[in-house]
Amino acid sequence: CGIVGYVGPKSSLEVLLGGLRRLEYRGYDSAGVAVIADDGQLVTRKRAGKLAVLESDLAAVPLPEGTTGIGHTRWATHGGPTDVNAHPHLSADGRIALIHNGIIENFASLKQELVDAGCTFDSETDTEVAAKLLGREYEQGDGIAAALARVVARLEGAFTLLAVHQDEPGVVVGARRNSPLVIGLGEGENFLGSDVAAFVEHTRRAVAIGQDQIVVITPDSVTVTDFEGGPVEVHEFEVSWDASAAEKGGWSSFMAKEISEQPEAVANTIRGRVVDEQVVLPELEGLDEVLTDIDRIIIIACGTASYSGLVGKYAIEKWARVPVEVELSHEFRYRDPVLSERTLVVSISQSGETMDTLMAVKYAIANGARTLSICNTQGATIARESDAVVYTHAGPEVAVASTKAFVAQITALYLFGLHLARLRGTVEQGRAAELVAELRAVPDKIAKVLESADEIDQLARWMSDSRAVLFLGRHVGYPIALEGALKLKELAYIHAEGFAAGELKHGPIALIEPGQPVFVVVPSPRDPGSLHSKVVSNIQEIRARGARVLAVAEEGDVAVLPFADEVIRIPLAAPLFEPLLTVVPLQLFAMSLATAKGLDVDQPRNLAKSVTVE
Ligand code: G6P
Repeated sequence: CGIVGYVGPKSSLEVLLGGLRRLEYRGYDSAGVAVIADDGQLVTRKRAGKLAVLESDLAAVPLPEGTTGIGHTRWATHGGPTDVNAHPHLSADGRIALIHNGIIENFASLKQELVDAGCTFDSETDTEVAAKLLGREYEQGDGIAAALARVVARLEGAFTLLAVHQDEPGVVVGARRNSPLVIGLGEGENFLGSDVAAFVEHTRRAVAIGQDQIVVITPDSVTVTDFEGGPVEVHEFEVSWDASAAEKGGWSSFMAKEISEQPEAVANTIRGRVVDEQVVLPELEGLDEVLTDIDRIIIIACGTASYSGLVGKYAIEKWARVPVEVELSHEFRYRDPVLSERTLVVSISQSGETMDTLMAVKYAIANGARTLSICNTQGATIARESDAVVYTHAGPEVAVASTKAFVAQITALYLFGLHLARLRGTVEQGRAAELVAELRAVPDKIAKVLESADEIDQLARWMSDSRAVLFLGRHVGYPIALEGALKLKELAYIHAEGFAAGELKHGPIALIEPGQPVFVVVPSPRDPGSLHSKVVSNIQEIRARGARVLAVAEEGDVAVLPFADEVIRIPLAAPLFEPLLTVVPLQLFAMSLATAKGLDVDQPRNLAKSVTVE
């Protein structure tokens, strides 16, 4: 969910709606605001549906002006997306409004306690329980911040809570455990947000709130304490991008814009990390001993980030000769994995807030492993929890399905692999310099692939009534097949599966029937490992059974021509660098097909960009 809070001289409603527009990618099945109006009344409005529904409602029947307020955009957990279940929720006397991101795990027992005390509920949400509880604690008369501290002490699970009380205009209180919350520092105004996008159009000065902390903002002050009221140290940081980076700027969608930004995402991630043709990650300074000593790497991530991890495994093992396993965060944590101080757990997360991954990182720390995160969001919780962080510099990614963050993650993993190889002496210097040169050539090559956007668009239009699409790949092409299938599911709601091409004959080939579209990620024919001929054989096997073959193949690869119905060309690259190119046509294909079906490519149904619940 997206959360925003404001106190200051401006119309809070305008600030809140501006923030919610930028946060809508965090959830968009309902939205709501609460404002302490200038006449002292607490007023709220909330609607199921996208933010636009709330906005048109507010345009038709405006709320009174006020300078203190909170806003929320929801991704439903407890209770479906209805007006009543939307946030804010109110205390029994209607004087407190509260919004929430996360899941309160002990809500049922707390609710029972409130029901026994005569409390009634309008919604099915866990959030309303927190609102009613806050109302009851407020009766003790020591103010909203103290009341909130007593409430959070009783909550289990993950939450960010923001609240306002109509008798305390000019004050917004917040608390967080495991879910994200960031302060935006202004002049005579202050902000709270689930990420900096909430306020970046007003200020780039930010403070990330730590675990189990409470914050109180007024126009002129910011106070952060722990749940017991003790002081805590805070660290201010400057947001490295400005508001325009998170705007569509003439593109038809954020997805189209972000796919086109991939050359820069890769180039910016490399920048400042190559010294004398060797990779040196300054952020890992001081960890030389740890990195030379590790005997195993476990990469953990979810969704698209996990596929970047699968690609990274091939490169890290090849270069640094350290065994690498890749596992979904939510599986890793619950299977009692074998960890030691020589295990490095590398988490990958665009948002740095994915709850499944955060919990897996905490698990790794608690069980004695070393941790490194690859993350695209400054100051994010996962980055802060880990021993070290290598940031990707893809810039803000707004479209829910990940594209530019993916290529930046692969780039960061490659940089890490080369850094590790240098420390461990597993790649000699001249070879490392060649690999660095290959990596540096990637942005221009991606730009070249992007030139085939129109051709792919045409193809997608022809295929817009496909019922199922299969994707095949081998070696680093395998995770790309998985990612191609995921993009198509997410964006176009078409059943899609990615397979390792070698696995085809062990089962999936039974799916092939005449006309079945199959994308095949074809490795370079220049590859000495003879993978190319293996994949061409796989193509022949499916072709013989009537498949419609769409090959993504290197320029000049003529061997695929007799068997492919369509060939999408990518520039020549060394095998390990091909994924950074072959993924691009698959992203474009999914976007074009979804657009042809009239779907919203930025906000696909049921998904949220940053899933802050387990
Ligand atoms: C969600 C998004 C996916 C994303 C995944 C991991 O499920 O819809 O697009 O790949 O989370 O997100 P992260 O921020 O951890 O990379």
